[in-house]
Amino acid sequence: MTLRFLAALSLLAVALPVAAQPVDPIAARQAIMKQNGRDTGAGAKMLKGEVPFSAASAMAIFKNMNDTAKKFGTLFPKGSETGGDTEAAPAVWSKPADFKAAVLKFDADTKAALAAKPATLDAFKAQFITVTGNCKSCHEGFRIKKD
Ligand code: HEC
Repeated sequence: MTLRFLAALSLLAVALPVAAQPVDPIAARQAIMKQNGRDTGAGAKMLKGEVPFSAASAMAIFKNMNDTAKKFGTLFPKGSETGGDTEAAPAVWSKPADFKAAVLKFDADTKAALAAKPATLDAFKAQFITVTGNCKSCHEGFRIKKD
């Protein structure tokens, strides 16, 4: 009896830390999309000449976006279709192959932008336009904007 109780208690002790920090996939995917928004804003400022072009900033922008592309597709488990003010469209789950293709295209375009190592504003602009084309095309199919 005492032994079984102790065994149960130790199991609980192992299980608790995990349960105490649930990873919320909706919050996680929204947070990395917010970062996408900030990075796009930073890139737009360079294109408009509001801040001087910096090759390091250009690379940081594409690196963040490529990190997003790598993580994003894993943050839509079953059960996260609703709640948390999600703007994800049902198409994410009803057309998984199309959604995956959109994520992979974002990954490929950001990877190509990094490989291009844009060293001038013009070179950055060309990559930035291709990369940010993904925002619009994916949002059209897979996001329902609520505001
Ligand atoms: C492969 C699809 C896809 C791509 C590419 C994509 N988005 Fe999104 N985005 C989404 C989805 C889906 C949501 C809704 C997520 C949710 O609410 O669960 C979203 C939400 C957002 C949000 C709102 C986040 C919040 O909740 O506050 C912003 C801002 C955003 N995206 C910006 C961008 C920008 C900028 C780009 C391009 C650099 C981009 N996205 C590229 C699919 C995509």
